[in-house]
Amino acid sequence: MPVRIVTIIGNRPQFVKAAAVSRKLRETHEELIVHTGQHYDDELSSVFFEELEVPAPDRELGAASGSNTAQTARILAALEPVLDELRPALALVYGDTNSTLAGALAASQAGVAVGHVEAGMRSFDRTMPEELNRVLTDHASDLLLCSTETALRNLEREAARGEAHLVGDVMADVLLAFRDIAAARSTILADLELEAGSYLAVTAHRAGNVDPPGRLGRLVELLEALPRPVVFPIHPRTRRRLEAAGLFDRLDGVRVVSPLGYLDFLELARHARAVLTDSGGVQKEAYLLGVPCVTLRDTTEWVETVEAGWNSLVDLDRDAALAALARRPPVERPELYGGGHASDRVCEVVAAYTARL
Ligand code: UD1
Ligand code: UDP
Repeated sequence: MPVRIVTIIGNRPQFVKAAAVSRKLRETHEELIVHTGQHYDDELSSVFFEELEVPAPDRELGAASGSNTAQTARILAALEPVLDELRPALALVYGDTNSTLAGALAASQAGVAVGHVEAGMRSFDRTMPEELNRVLTDHASDLLLCSTETALRNLEREAARGEAHLVGDVMADVLLAFRDIAAARSTILADLELEAGSYLAVTAHRAGNVDPPGRLGRLVELLEALPRPVVFPIHPRTRRRLEAAGLFDRLDGVRVVSPLGYLDFLELARHARAVLTDSGGVQKEAYLLGVPCVTLRDTTEWVETVEAGWNSLVDLDRDAALAALARRPPVERPELYGGGHASDRVCEVVAAYTARL
């Protein structure tokens, strides 16, 4: 009987990450996917399952939206009977969202070993819900699968009790596997009548940037000041906040479009003059695509991209963003994040670990 693994995912970046691991994991293990329902719109969820061929979820918890506490609590409660029924040897969780923490805690309370992919990332900013989720998930995990050396060092410093391994970054695997497919299939540049290398691509959804009205206003001022064309696939959180604050119309000259599927987004990012973002995943993708990144935060977990000179942290400072856009990136771009082999390493480490259980 193959060892049973339950993968718990619920948000856009987690569908991308699971795309790298699930198919490989199923060659040697029985994997069941539980979708928490934190993201439920097709454009944030099903499009990723389809395009990236993530196996269909075996259970759907339908957790939907709410405050961080309410959402985490709902997922936690819904997971208990599911884990009781499925009794996996290991639960695999990804990243730093409410689905991650609820998954790790529910599994750990059920006596199921927890593997955390993207363990050890830190911004050292405890006001971010993601930072709380990461720290708590790591300390509830048995197997800590790290994307970077920095992450390993963070876990060492915190004396996390789980077994830590450097595996590389599974998002890099997906990007490298789908880059050419995106180029062949996506028509996003033609659809939006964009010339390669001429435009800026923007994403912004971090709660700290769009929930406080003052910060949202600064984001709008920054977007207003950017040289056109600017394309902004907008996250629903951001759309709602802008509409509620009556600021949406201020984005007049910005091409605001619905959230894109992975292939279209990759193609859009790849041909952008630069990317401006507060996303974790997009910072890495810009680096791997050789596109300069301006990060709309004052901290990042992906410090290597900053050290390499390809990522500038500007927070919501409009002038700093414009100055960053005017700088040329270095010629060198060291290979980071595992070169496309992270998911192989994850599967090897999981196999070795579960064989010992
Ligand atoms: C969550 C994660 C964040 C991650 C992001 C990926 C937490 C604390 N945050 O933030 O780390 O970067 O996902 O995109 O877990 N909504 C919809 N349709 C959906 C889902 C959400 O309209 O399918 C709207 C709802 O109004 C909801 C809001 O977006 O209240 C925020 O959704 P939520 O999942 O709570 O947080 P994200 O901002 O997406
Ligand atoms: N992404 C996408 N369409 C978009 C914006 C982002 O496919 O319109 C992808 C992006 O390529 C990356 C992932 O979504 O793989 C990042 O998710 P997000 O920014 O929501 O979350 P974060 O990484 O900040 O947690």
